[in-house]
Amino acid sequence: LRTAEEAIGRLVRDVPDFPEPGILFKDITPLLADHSGFGAVVSALADAGREGGEVVIDKVIGMEARGFILAAPVALALGVGFVPVRKAGKLPGETHAVGYALEYGEAVLEVHRDGITAGERVLVVDDVLATGGTARATAELVAACGGTVAAMAFLLELSFLPGRAAVGDSPLTVLSVI
Ligand code: PRP
Ligand code: MG
Repeated sequence: LRTAEEAIGRLVRDVPDFPEPGILFKDITPLLADHSGFGAVVSALADAGREGGEVVIDKVIGMEARGFILAAPVALALGVGFVPVRKAGKLPGETHAVGYALEYGEAVLEVHRDGITAGERVLVVDDVLATGGTARATAELVAACGGTVAAMAFLLELSFLPGRAAVGDSPLTVLSVI
């Protein structure tokens, strides 16, 4: 498994009719369980935080829950800190909160106000870009802290959904497009 693309092609498992009939779920757990595949993917995502070999970001943000799995090792690979964006009610400190649309209803994401310092450049990392609602809410949280989204990086993009349009004009890395 030399490249992240090969690893994703071989180790992301299609699960039909999960979590509901008619949905083809992309299960990344076989990829995570493969040391070489996981390493290739983390390394490729981390490249989104470099320009000409130099690290150009100050923090990596990951979104609960699957984003945590990828964003934390990306932060370590880049030598910067990791900041969690969590679902409502989980963070103990002062937070910024942003609502976003789900397929049915609304949800809220939060970040600690002191998680990002004004002026910091942030790399946002998640597993899937679908409608873009999660990523857009996260970008709003970074802005509320006074930070800048320097780049966003995803394992998979579902190109039949409008996620790319929803995330605005921050540089976008996707390792695999479905
Ligand atoms: C999934 C996925 C992304 C998001 C993408 O998270 O991990 O975060 O959906 O969809 P969007 O672009 O339409 O927002 P989900 O909230 O389902 O659950 P998780 O806690 O398993 O990450
Ligand atoms: Mg998620």
